[in-house]
Amino acid sequence: MIRGISEDKMKGKKRDRDSRISMVLVLVFFYHFTVTSLQAINGSCDSISNVLKENFTTNLYGIEVGLKMLVQQELTDVSQELDEVPKIMHSFLSSKYVEAGSSLNTLIENLSLQINLTNSKPEATIDFSEHAMEQAKEAQSSIQQLIQCKENTITDHKQLFQPLESSGEKNDSCLVDGTKCQYLACAQGNKLPICAIGFGSGVTGGAAGVNYIVTRSDDADDPKNPTPGTIRFAIDLAGKNKGGVWITFKESMEIELKSKLWINSHTTIDGRGVNVTITGNGLVLRTVENVILHNFEIVSAGNTDAIHVFDGTQNVWIDHLTSRDAKSGLVTVIQGSTDVTISNCYLSNQDYIMLLGASDQDTVDQVLRVTVYRNLFESSTQRMPHCRWGYCHVVNNYYKNWSYYAIGARVHARVLSELNVFEAGSHLEVTPWYNQFNSDLTPTIVSSKDLFLKGATFHEFMKYGTLRATQDDYPAYKVPTVATNSLASLVSNCSGVLFGSKLDDCLASQ
Ligand SMILES: *[C@@H]1O[C@H](CO)[C@@H](O)[C@H](O)[C@H]1NC(C)=O
Ligand SMILES: *[C@@H]1O[C@H](CO)[C@@H](O)[C@H](O)[C@H]1NC(C)=O
Ligand SMILES: *[C@@H]1O[C@H](CO)[C@@H](O)[C@H](O)[C@H]1NC(C)=O
Ligand SMILES: *[C@@H]1O[C@H](CO)[C@@H](O)[C@H](O)[C@H]1NC(C)=O
Ligand SMILES: *[C@@H]1O[C@H](CO)[C@@H](O)[C@H](O)[C@H]1NC(C)=O
Ligand SMILES: *[C@@H]1O[C@H](CO)[C@@H](O)[C@H](O)[C@H]1NC(C)=O
Ligand SMILES: *[C@@H]1O[C@H](CO)[C@@H](O)[C@H](O)[C@H]1NC(C)=O
Repeated sequence: MIRGISEDKMKGKKRDRDSRISMVLVLVFFYHFTVTSLQAINGSCDSISNVLKENFTTNLYGIEVGLKMLVQQELTDVSQELDEVPKIMHSFLSSKYVEAGSSLNTLIENLSLQINLTNSKPEATIDFSEHAMEQAKEAQSSIQQLIQCKENTITDHKQLFQPLESSGEKNDSCLVDGTKCQYLACAQGNKLPICAIGFGSGVTGGAAGVNYIVTRSDDADDPKNPTPGTIRFAIDLAGKNKGGVWITFKESMEIELKSKLWINSHTTIDGRGVNVTITGNGLVLRTVENVILHNFEIVSAGNTDAIHVFDGTQNVWIDHLTSRDAKSGLVTVIQGSTDVTISNCYLSNQDYIMLLGASDQDTVDQVLRVTVYRNLFESSTQRMPHCRWGYCHVVNNYYKNWSYYAIGARVHARVLSELNVFEAGSHLEVTPWYNQFNSDLTPTIVSSKDLFLKGATFHEFMKYGTLRATQDDYPAYKVPTVATNSLASLVSNCSGVLFGSKLDDCLASQ
């Protein structure tokens, strides 16, 4: 029974109950999207692990709900712990279970301390600190079992590449500068991953797998029966080899795809030394990991995106591609995909460029982290990129003559625009800002040390605060940058496919 509760407290309780109901709705909502996209992330564990993953996700949102309620009740300060929950989720979705487990342990210790420090207990019917703690302990048990399961069943692909990585780091002649490194001696052949930077770094592609040289430019009518020598035959090899496949080309060629090209995990398409153009259809990355797409042109991919990355795909490096005149986008990264770097591409005369998160409802895209780096965006309309839910670091790009907006975002996305050059054409504003008419003010879009030319303007979105430097949130994160006054010439000379005289010019420019 309720005794002697003041009207204020009653109101407070009603508010608590309302927000509790909406929290539960949020929980169900998050749970649905997360679980659907999780199902295929890691097929290598048996049926129990799927239950464990579902349970872990549920418990994590349970923790979040508990902590949010505690923050609202203002009885104890658990805002730091609350900030940790999305990070734990990110580690988990990236299959970094050990990392997720150890942060969870810290959270439990912190919470236990907070509970002990709080002497006044809330009057609310549910004790949210206990609720959060119960959920945390269940999550802890799931993650411990998942770690066990992973240790028993998965060979760590990265280990296969370890010797290569360490030899690269020791070699001082290898300058990881983000743009030219890819064409220097130290990155020859399957040492290319040494040059990867940003959220896609750590990618190895098919470096530990078989090498395959594409010799024919044709594409079979029956995609299930590809002719040896074709690119379609080559990409199938990755599914058949533990270390994946590293694909190169015997000579310059134009490949007209008759249907979409479905890329497997642990694949590199390496177009260095030749001039390869892919047309007709796009590349699709669905629920795969560890892919490098490097140095080729992709144009006229039909009505689809040139490169469609979706459904829990992770660790992708898209570098030195050229694309133009396409109706739909160059790269789309959606539905729970993450850890992608899109760098050194030359994109012109397009409407849509990069959609990072496709729907306001895809809350699973909170996991999204993308680096957009050293690209040349020229005479295009919009989405360079457009970001939802996740974190987009847009750094050291050169923008020329966008016609609608260059950088946009929705639903709590965080976009840090840093050290870019914006050279306006007839449209001046970089973001889709329309004074009070903006339909969504939840994203944070911040400009740091950008250079604005020909009257370009940048309206920051900061209703929910500002952003810290990328390295503060992600300590291992690295991208080498150049000052904006030398950026335009570097990006003009070095973006897109580098071949023949263009490669020579790039290597010669400072
Ligand atoms: C998953 O959660 C359900 C409901 O809480 C529980 O009954 C079940 O034992 C859990 N499964 C595992 C494998 O921990
Ligand atoms: C634990 O508490 C420390 C100190 O307050 C804080 O910096 C850290 O983010 C917390 N970690 C977790 C996982 O809650
Ligand atoms: C909180 O109190 C309980 C019971 O007294 C104790 O077992 C636990 O170690 C304490 N936690 C911390 C972090 O001090
Ligand atoms: C560094 O790499 C280059 C090119 O692969 C090679 O010629 C040179 O000998 C290497 N230097 C060291 C110290 O390993
Ligand atoms: C590369 O090939 C395309 C056609 O496939 C051609 O238009 C272009 O000029 C070539 N580039 C070079 C540098 O040879
Ligand atoms: C700017 O881009 C538009 C297409 O969006 C194009 O029609 C126009 O010619 C471009 N202007 C310049 C100066 O390149
Ligand atoms: C690099 O590009 C600039 C134009 O942006 C040009 O003036 C310069 O000559 C180029 N440098 C080289 C080495 O090609």
